[in-house]
Amino acid sequence: MALLSSVHKSILEGSYPANIFDSSPVSSVAARYLSSTGVGFRSRIDGSSSKETKFGRNSVQIKALADHTNTSEVPLLSRSEVFERLTANQENRKSKQHYLAMYSSIFGGITTEPSLMVIPMDDHMVHRGHGVFDTAAIMDGYVYELDQHIDRFLRSASMAKISLPFDKKGIRNILIQTVVASKCKQGSLRYWVSAGPGDFQLSPYGCHQPALYAIVIKDQSPPDWSGVKVITSSIPIKPPQFATMKSVNYLPNVLSKMEAQENGGFAAIWLDDEGYIAEGPNMNVAFVTKEKELVMPCFDKILSGCTARRVLSLAEGLVREGKLSEISVRNLTVEEGKMADEMMLIGSGVLVRPVLQWDDQVIGNGKEGHVARTLLNLILEDMKSGPSTVRVPIPY
Ligand SMILES: Cc1ncc(COP(=O)(O)O)c(C=O)c1O
Repeated sequence: MALLSSVHKSILEGSYPANIFDSSPVSSVAARYLSSTGVGFRSRIDGSSSKETKFGRNSVQIKALADHTNTSEVPLLSRSEVFERLTANQENRKSKQHYLAMYSSIFGGITTEPSLMVIPMDDHMVHRGHGVFDTAAIMDGYVYELDQHIDRFLRSASMAKISLPFDKKGIRNILIQTVVASKCKQGSLRYWVSAGPGDFQLSPYGCHQPALYAIVIKDQSPPDWSGVKVITSSIPIKPPQFATMKSVNYLPNVLSKMEAQENGGFAAIWLDDEGYIAEGPNMNVAFVTKEKELVMPCFDKILSGCTARRVLSLAEGLVREGKLSEISVRNLTVEEGKMADEMMLIGSGVLVRPVLQWDDQVIGNGKEGHVARTLLNLILEDMKSGPSTVRVPIPY
């Protein structure tokens, strides 16, 4: 009611925006409300310029309004004012991420306008978490491991019982065209499929049709190789059914990351229901034992990381060179992990990041390890000049 009583007051004071009666649904709701109150509002719509209105289009004002904290008088906005505020909001963000292009099946196309990179409020993904996503890196104008990430994306969608709006080839084409439109050579491609917009019910049966969204984010920062501290997460790990799919239900992951940060760490490590080492909130983990065995936890209760899988295959060369004795995917106790020579985090975001301390335990000699460095170099080399199975060229 705060919104509507504010509208009422604004009209009585003659301060209502001139363009309230544009065709936006919000405005027509307001118009319906106002006509039902019997307020003679139409006489206020006298063609006065928007500059004269309380919520005019001065960009300084818009900036200030976008940050407004006045909750006692909430303006009812016209379509263009919402657009302006969305733009101001983008400009005022703390995080300066560059969103270069977004595809939405709701639009049926791509936009490069950041303020329009929005999704419907009643998408089942927003209110019920009924969506899955994936991410792939863009390096030197190639998408790295696009097909591997799409395969996992489709597996996640199937586990979440979300039917696809397009077939695999169609989704792949859309993703590539979104990167083309973005002109991005260095960054990341994120994409979601959801049950789609419909209503706010628990069941997805009222959802009109599944939706696909994708966004391209510019990021030219080099990988951070510096060693980090991790802690053991006190936030419970997701049960295997949910941990093995990449759904948008990342609340445990977010809380786990926050717990790490609150304790001076970079990430918190989950243990599985049997107490074995599992994974981090958005990365896998790997260890190098004193016997030079590269070990990763089994993937049956955690996300099957595309980067971790690729590292496993690239590391085979290190066994041939005698730098590793063997490579294993097996259960690993915390004690074994903490006694390892090297520990590292592995994922699309971190690539390969050495861990120097886990809780109070210093790992190895407390310095970034040789194997971690070699694996990072191998992944970077693979991203820059690997085979066509892992590098999809973008036809800009
Ligand atoms: C929970 C979790 N585990 C592992 C990973 C690493 O997966 P990938 O290497 O495919 O990025 C991620 C990636 O976001 C993740 O969210």
